[in-house]
Order: sequence, then C-alpha cells, then structure tokens
Amino acid sequence: MAGGVRGSTTGILSEENTQQREELIAMLRKAYWMEIETVMSYIAGSINPDGVRAQEIIESLQEDIQEELGHAQRFAGRIKELYGVVPGSQEFAAEQSYLQPPEHQTDVVHVIKGVIEAETGAIEHYNRIIEFTDGLDFVTQDMVIEILADEEGHRRLFEGYLREYEAEGLA
Ligand SMILES: [Fe+2]
Ligand SMILES: [Fe+2]
Repeated sequence: MAGGVRGSTTGILSEENTQQREELIAMLRKAYWMEIETVMSYIAGSINPDGVRAQEIIESLQEDIQEELGHAQRFAGRIKELYGVVPGSQEFAAEQSYLQPPEHQTDVVHVIKGVIEAETGAIEHYNRIIEFTDGLDFVTQDMVIEILADEEGHRRLFEGYLREYEAEGLA
C-alpha cells in the first residue's frame, strides 16, 4: 500500500504534500501566537483605561477577548489535525509593541489605534493563509475565512471609534 503510515490520502494530508503541510503549520503557529498575544493585550486594554469615554472600549474589548481566545483554540486544533504540535509557552515572543499600555490611562485613542494595528496584522496574515491553502487545504481555508470575517468586523468597529475621536479633534 502506497503512502506510508497514513495510507493513501489526497490533499494536505497526503505524503507528497509534506513540505507544504509543514509550511502551513508554521503559518498556523504564527497565527496562534498572534491570537494569544491579542488576548493578553486586550485584557490589559479592557482593564487599564480610565474615564467615562473609556467604557465603550472596555466593553468592546471584553467581548473580543473571548472571540480571540476561541480563534487561538481553533488554530491550535487545526495544527494538531495537520500532525503538528501546539507550541509551549517558552516559544512565545511578543510583537505587539503598539499595544503596550499608554503613559496615561485616559489615552483611549492609543488603545483604539493599537487594536486597529493588531487587527490589521491579523487580517494580512490570514489573507496569506487563505491564499496559500487555495486548492491545497480547503478545511483550513474555510476556517481561516471565518476567522478573517471576525477580524474585519473588529477592525471596522474600532475604526468607527477612531472616526468619532477624529471628528471631535481628539485624535
Ligand atoms: Fe482573532
Ligand atoms: Fe480580532
């Protein structure tokens, strides 16, 4: 029987696609870390801000935390399905310099802009995965399209917040 231990399969799980599968797993691990870091940044961003105007942002980020955590779990699950291993915490390296707490906790614009940047980074990376998986792995592609839709929604919401601040000359 050809195809080794996995038997004869087609698509991303086939032996002949081993190299592409490994490349895809690396992209999914990056996505997983992006989601994990976003959870950390959004927890801070949903707790730190002060002031009446911060409440909408706080509530919005509280909701997003659960969604981003769900995304991390979906990426992790797909890594395993592709015969990869979900990385341990010691492999984590922070990248969201723009989402560090601002100097003044009333600086809500800083948080809004940071969220937009994080969502933009996710949108770019997930578009790359969608393109990479086209014709290769429709299951991952389908999953990432769903997650991309969430990220586009998050970004649009925060762009709306930023517009309000800009309209009032506060950003
Ligand atoms: Fe996400
Ligand atoms: Fe998001």
